[in-house]
Amino acid sequence: MSLTARPEVISLAGGLPATDSFPQDVFERINQEISDTQRALALQYGPTEGFDFLKEDIALVMAAEGTSVDPAHVMITTGGQQAIDLVTKTFIDAGDIVLAEGPAYAGALTTFSTYEADVRHIAMDANGLVVEELEAVLDRLEAEGRRPKFLYTVPNFSNPGGTTLSLERRRRLVRIAAERDLLVLEDNPYGLLRYEGEPLPTLLSLDTSGNVVYLGSFSKIISPGIRSGWIVAPQAIYQKIVFGKQATDLCSSPLNQLFVHGLIASGVWLEYIERLRGIYTSRRDTMLEALSEEFPSEATWTRPAGGFFVWATIPGIHTGDLLAKAIDENVAFVRGDAFYQDGGGTDSMRLSFSFVNEERIKEGVRRLGAVISDQMELYRALGL
Ligand SMILES: Cc1ncc(COP(=O)(O)O)c(C=O)c1O
Repeated sequence: MSLTARPEVISLAGGLPATDSFPQDVFERINQEISDTQRALALQYGPTEGFDFLKEDIALVMAAEGTSVDPAHVMITTGGQQAIDLVTKTFIDAGDIVLAEGPAYAGALTTFSTYEADVRHIAMDANGLVVEELEAVLDRLEAEGRRPKFLYTVPNFSNPGGTTLSLERRRRLVRIAAERDLLVLEDNPYGLLRYEGEPLPTLLSLDTSGNVVYLGSFSKIISPGIRSGWIVAPQAIYQKIVFGKQATDLCSSPLNQLFVHGLIASGVWLEYIERLRGIYTSRRDTMLEALSEEFPSEATWTRPAGGFFVWATIPGIHTGDLLAKAIDENVAFVRGDAFYQDGGGTDSMRLSFSFVNEERIKEGVRRLGAVISDQMELYRALGL
């Protein structure tokens, strides 16, 4: 965050949405309406689980991705990050095993380590989480007499991998969850930001055994500043999480819930997401083109069908060694080992295309390509 604040730095690091594209007239209209008609409600405490009208809006938002939910199973949270925190707080005692895709969203790993979970990564490939490896890890743990508390995964356009779990693997994962009574935490903040292909069913919509807890967020489709997310959970789990949320913050901001409701009730949210898709598609394409022009032939990278991130790998290069040099050249990325709890990912980096315009993406990738080439030359000169 401090790097992105320096205007000379082209930051391909943070996963920041393009909030400058939010229409001013819509912002003003919604706030005016709240001020005129719902001022007292906006300024008061609200129910811990969130307003019923917003739960119904969320059912509508999820229907846009083909998932049907009962609004009674929806709980509003203060962002998706709190949703991860609340579920972890509910389930994890120190030393409990959490399975997490590798690489995994760094914010989730921070939460897991706060509650002293023992994180075991499951590898990913171009089709997302490798389900065969999940089964092998579950077998090994069973032989040791241990059971993971849950599996954490981002099936759509993962952060940081940019990969999407194939339909076949989704079906298999849900089957494994049912057969082995494995709780799956499906984190889906990017699902509606798809730039090509057909939407795939959420794990929640495929699950018939009550083993999926779904986490959603308005951060990427409306704004992270409003800190609004949600959880969909079976009733028994839902009640426990409500207790946890009471202890954390009593309720999520009613003012912000009313803002989200205003946007969804007016129907404008769909147009806004369409606009975002246009912006991000162009930035993604620019980044992919720049990578093929500027990165050395040894490098590989993912081709995300949505979301914010490209995951690039340069075999033999420790991206931690590159970072200081890249910042000297006024370009930033996130080193790959930030997304592993076990020291993995050292030869990878996460590049975000969501926040920076096309011209700066091109220039940033050009500078990064030059830093990588210099580093490769240095390694060669040292015989490494
Ligand atoms: C996969 C994933 N989950 C959750 C979050 C948390 O976002 P928020 O708390 O803003 O909803 C993020 C943010 O980058 C994310 O990438």
